[in-house]
Amino acid sequence: MARSAGVEPATAWFVARYSIQLSYERVRPRNILNRGVGVKLKLRWVVDIGRIRTLEVLKAIEAKVEKIGLFFGSDDGNTESVARRIAQRLGADKVDIHDVRDVNQVEFLGYDKLILAIPTWDFGQIQSDWEEFWSDLEALDFSGKTVAMVGLGDQFGYGDFFLDAMGMLHDVVIKTADKIIGYWSTQGYEYDTSKAELPGGELFAGLALDEDQQPELTDDRLDQWCEQVRSEFGLITAMAG
Ligand SMILES: Cc1cc2nc3c(=O)[nH]c(=O)nc-3n(C[C@H](O)[C@H](O)[C@H](O)COP(=O)(O)O)c2cc1C
Repeated sequence: MARSAGVEPATAWFVARYSIQLSYERVRPRNILNRGVGVKLKLRWVVDIGRIRTLEVLKAIEAKVEKIGLFFGSDDGNTESVARRIAQRLGADKVDIHDVRDVNQVEFLGYDKLILAIPTWDFGQIQSDWEEFWSDLEALDFSGKTVAMVGLGDQFGYGDFFLDAMGMLHDVVIKTADKIIGYWSTQGYEYDTSKAELPGGELFAGLALDEDQQPELTDDRLDQWCEQVRSEFGLITAMAG
């Protein structure tokens, strides 16, 4: 729903390193009357095409590495609203919010810290924009990154599929991510089965929110979870001011 802030659209420009080399050689003057020895200067451009990299990748990495990239998909706006409320709590200037329907893989490359927010739809299905991005997501390498997840669902209406999409997202990310943070207790929810529940049944793969059945609990849950991830991301000092 929101336009992505930050990385410019793909551009056709490339970065190439070049240098100027100066050399000289001693030359014998053509004029026989001139008995001295001359020096001939040579100037040439050297283009090092071996170092070409796309400008957009360089820019993304340069600009985003210190910020948190928060990526969400949302059909009815609940997850988008939650994304904004998370950014408010962590510091709007510290978080870039991206609607996953507007991004490509390059946007993900620029962040070491990621929050991925996903609702479940249609009896355990992935939200439509995340679904379209799914094969790109599976091809992404999350190594070197710390990832937290947020899931939205309806525990009474869809108790056999509660937050399933967050579980599926977790299955993809855990294959390559360095560190997953933001795990959240299953206490305080009533559901039958959930793919977002980790083995042992005590934790969800990320923050569990239910805007349909427990909207009055969302603000407190967000407060608590944001404090938790602030610490787990190692941002306590960095974001204190
Ligand atoms: C038709 C429909 C199907 C849904 N299917 C599920 C489901 O399988 N599991 C679940 O936990 N929630 C399910 N939900 C609840 C949504 O995940 C929930 O309303 C969520 O807040 C929607 O987020 P969004 O507004 O960002 O799209 C469903 C809701 C609707 C209307």
